[in-house]
Amino acid sequence: MEIKKLDLTYCERLAEIDKACMSVPYSVSMFQNELENNTCYLGAFCDGILVAYGGMWLVADEGQITNIVVMESHRRKGIGDKILKELEHYAKEEGATVLNLEVRESNQGAISLYEKNGFVRDGLRKNYYKSPTENAVLMSKIIR
Ligand SMILES: CC(C)(COP(=O)(O)OP(=O)(O)OC[C@H]1O[C@@H](n2cnc3c(N)ncnc32)[C@H](O)[C@@H]1OP(=O)(O)O)[C@@H](O)C(=O)NCCC(=O)NCCS
Repeated sequence: MEIKKLDLTYCERLAEIDKACMSVPYSVSMFQNELENNTCYLGAFCDGILVAYGGMWLVADEGQITNIVVMESHRRKGIGDKILKELEHYAKEEGATVLNLEVRESNQGAISLYEKNGFVRDGLRKNYYKSPTENAVLMSKIIR
């Protein structure tokens, strides 16, 4: 498995991954908009195929992790964990001192992944998500 930074040429594959995995997937143009702005998208490749990604906004000294998505066929193999660690490494190199993220309250798998990597819960945003409506757990990690 190889992890590398993604550019605009991967937007169609990113949208495919989201369509397969997310209840409210990003479209190709949404990914294009993300990648044209101040974001870092890292992708995990298995046998040359993009099977997972992690996205992060960098604003001032904060990294906002937008999503980490691993194709179902490739889960529980450490890929999400590796992407998260690489995002943290990248954010540190860019001068960020804190990482923030939101996650669905019912998403125990993702919450475990973040807690295992030192993120702590620091708030709840009521009815933040749609389809289905659900609270967001706010999590952060100091990385300086
Ligand atoms: C959440 C997600 C990214 C995890 O990716 P993954 O590659 O399967 O995770 P890893 O194999 O690296 O797991 C690392 C740790 O996270 C936790 N974890 C991951 N999936 C879990 C699950 N389904 N149930 C419980 N714990 C889980 C475990 O602590 C795991 O360590 P372990 O395997 O030693 O027990 C993946 O399930 C996914 O893409 N889900 C759909 C999209 C999503 O919800 N993304 C998060 C949005 S904020």
